[in-house]
Amino acid sequence: MASAATTRTLTDLSGPKGLPLLGNLLQLDLKQLHRVLERWSDEFGTLYKFELGRRPVVVVTDPELNQTILRNRPKLYRRLGTIEPVFKDMGITGVFSAEGEDWKRQRRMTAHALDAQHLRQFFPTLIKVTQRLRNRWNTAAARESAVDVQQDLMRYTVDVTTNLAFGYDMNTLEKAGDVIQEHLEKIFPLINRRINAVFPYWRHFKLPADRALDQSLVAIRETITGFVTRGRARLAAHPELAAHPTNLLEAMLAAPLEGDAAFTDEEIYGNVLTMLLAGEDTTANTMAWMIHFMIEHPEAQARMRAEAGAVVGSAGMLSQLADAERLNYIEAVTNETMRLKPVAPILFLESNEDVEIGGVAVPKGTALFLLTLHGGLQDIHFGAADQFRPERWLATAPAAGCPHNAKAFIPFGTGPRFCPGRQLAMVEIKTVMAMLCTEFEVAKTEHSQPVTEVFSFTMMPENLLVRFQRRPAA
Ligand code: HEM
Repeated sequence: MASAATTRTLTDLSGPKGLPLLGNLLQLDLKQLHRVLERWSDEFGTLYKFELGRRPVVVVTDPELNQTILRNRPKLYRRLGTIEPVFKDMGITGVFSAEGEDWKRQRRMTAHALDAQHLRQFFPTLIKVTQRLRNRWNTAAARESAVDVQQDLMRYTVDVTTNLAFGYDMNTLEKAGDVIQEHLEKIFPLINRRINAVFPYWRHFKLPADRALDQSLVAIRETITGFVTRGRARLAAHPELAAHPTNLLEAMLAAPLEGDAAFTDEEIYGNVLTMLLAGEDTTANTMAWMIHFMIEHPEAQARMRAEAGAVVGSAGMLSQLADAERLNYIEAVTNETMRLKPVAPILFLESNEDVEIGGVAVPKGTALFLLTLHGGLQDIHFGAADQFRPERWLATAPAAGCPHNAKAFIPFGTGPRFCPGRQLAMVEIKTVMAMLCTEFEVAKTEHSQPVTEVFSFTMMPENLLVRFQRRPAA
């Protein structure tokens, strides 16, 4: 609620000048949305306003305010109101876009399926999938061909998610040609376009990208229907699984948790697709950005290699989950990568009630874009903030005069809707990096172009082509 001390209203907030009716729409380069909003923050401060058509959007970059907002979900804030219908129009009724009681029920189920116990059981399968990635990179190294690592890593993360969450080994890593990733990759750019549209144009007419998406959604539905049919058959053959489901799909198909209502077919489909989407781009692009930094900073690559070698030895592969805990420097590189290149640099929210944010009265239903990258790039929050310095994450206490504000580092979000896949993602990253560092050296290709950022709901590298060289056996 707005307090008596609130002195300002939305009209008092500064921001970029726009046009009548269109607002700042024409200034929003959607593929660089995070950078546009960050530049405006440099000009207008950590709390400012712009207009999407006639709708005001409040942008928050102050880490303290971001924390307060994210932690006050689901009561005071929700995901942006357009997210649920945009996802629903694509058939995605899952935990990421759900609100209220539906969200609570789906969240319990998802968090359970991704918990430490399931991860431990899953570890041998994770290693099997990582060995396939190693084989793929071995072949590329032998052929001396340039590797589009982002594409390879997307195959890896989809194979991991389908194994873990649906008990199905898609094995896209060992397939050539068309794989489900080519359909999944159509979804995020259109989510980005549609949630930032001034009206739901796609319900009235379809642009070529919307038509291509529709075709991909048909292919995705066919694949997911296959997972569900196989899951149902497994449950029918092994009724005892209903009491002890081994993965998310079985859990959704079997008994609801703690007296929850059963999942509808659309919720099952929506959550399967949500898991594929949430687990794919995010983890793959984080690893792709890490490889980019390893190439730019050979000294970091060498230190990662030394650490990985000491932990995994000549096997080149983690032998037990607990060993992931010993990869402290690799974890530091992961954190530094996510500080400089978080794959979710914008969180799209909305107020559920009249609230006060930083002394400004914000009415119910106001769009709030929270920037998660901007704070991490400020020298007041991290010393030498523009520089890649993994060591900053190893210090037990920040060096005198060198700020290290953990609140300005929220790559997985925070509060009750914090990413439930964080642990899985960190284990995937460490397993892949331990293998990569001990077995290969990565470098630029002969014709490398500058690597740039592209935002399409997640933020990914463009032009990241990599040369893999096998390291001599120790
Ligand atoms: C490096 C990898 C990853 C990053 C950086 C990441 C980041 C995020 C972020 C920023 C959010 C929104 C959090 C918020 O609103 O506070 C989120 C939500 C979510 N993530 Fe992740 N994620 C990653 C990997 C994964 C994986 C591997 C999975 C599962 C396979 C996953 C599943 C989800 C789900 C289901 C949500 C929605 C949670 C909810 O709304 O309650 N994520 N993630």
